[in-house]
Amino acid sequence: MLKLIKNLSEAYGPSGREEEVRSLIQEELKGKNLEVFTDALGNLVAVKEGRGKKIMVAAHMDEVGLMVTHVDEEGFLRFANIGGLQPASILGRCFLLPGGVKATAGVEKPEDLKDLSFKKMYLDIGARDKGEALGQVGIGSVAVFEAAFTPVGGRYSGKAMDDRIGCALLLAAMEEVRTDNEIYFVFTVQEEVGLRGARTSAYRLNPDIGLAVDVTRSGDTPEAPRMAVSLGKGPTVKVKDNSIIAHPRVKERMMAVAEGEGIPYQPEVLERGGTDAGAIHITREGIPSGVMSIPCRYIHTAAEMVDAGDVEYGRRFLTALLEDSWS
Ligand code: CO
Ligand code: ZN
Repeated sequence: MLKLIKNLSEAYGPSGREEEVRSLIQEELKGKNLEVFTDALGNLVAVKEGRGKKIMVAAHMDEVGLMVTHVDEEGFLRFANIGGLQPASILGRCFLLPGGVKATAGVEKPEDLKDLSFKKMYLDIGARDKGEALGQVGIGSVAVFEAAFTPVGGRYSGKAMDDRIGCALLLAAMEEVRTDNEIYFVFTVQEEVGLRGARTSAYRLNPDIGLAVDVTRSGDTPEAPRMAVSLGKGPTVKVKDNSIIAHPRVKERMMAVAEGEGIPYQPEVLERGGTDAGAIHITREGIPSGVMSIPCRYIHTAAEMVDAGDVEYGRRFLTALLEDSWS
């Protein structure tokens, strides 16, 4: 699974341009004997047929990025954010654009560091002038962090752990699950810009239950905002975030399954942010939904960090959730 997480994490896939991630996953789905299709927006769906509960489990393929909005005469690129990035997180970082183009994020003046904003920043692709820059990138090209996936102590660090870790967990659970439930494994597009792929795929699949697998914040770093989630204490069962109040029956069932399997879990209240379940649960007449999250530090940076034990428990937890009778 480590090699898979590494490949997924390092792949290029900002919102709207998930092709590379999708083909990696399609490669993994080969020979699994599941019905696999891609819908109109680009969501990838693998179906495990059955006569039990219809469960949609979603993980998003896209990652945050920077979209080129303007190129100046000297060849420097200005940009707009795709998803929730912080100016401080991109300064001095390396970026990757389509066609293997690399960039560094710079800031106009040293004074600007005090009151940093994207307006005062630019991407430098090493071009000598506008013409040379436009030979390599276009208006609308999107840059993503360039960062190698690497184990750090008992933890994993890399870009786009949000939510390639979820994609890897879906693939791992797919391998192990033994159940008569009908399961739709959905690898969604455009989560970071408003849960868009989850919305259309939930409408099409119309499941009995929706589950999202994603990362969440933690409150265990120095002076962190108070949050009762830590790395290394197990995956979380979402109670609430800005996109959903988890359905009480789904949430309680998830907790019961974890307890039955002896899997440590943490109840999660996330004060900012959302997941695909936010779109799924308000689809059609309403779909009872919940979320399993993997605690993550430094979300939406080039070095998102998750705990190896949480990932392993997450794999077991997700498998058990998909095998449950949900009655
Ligand atoms: Co995210
Ligand atoms: Zn996410």
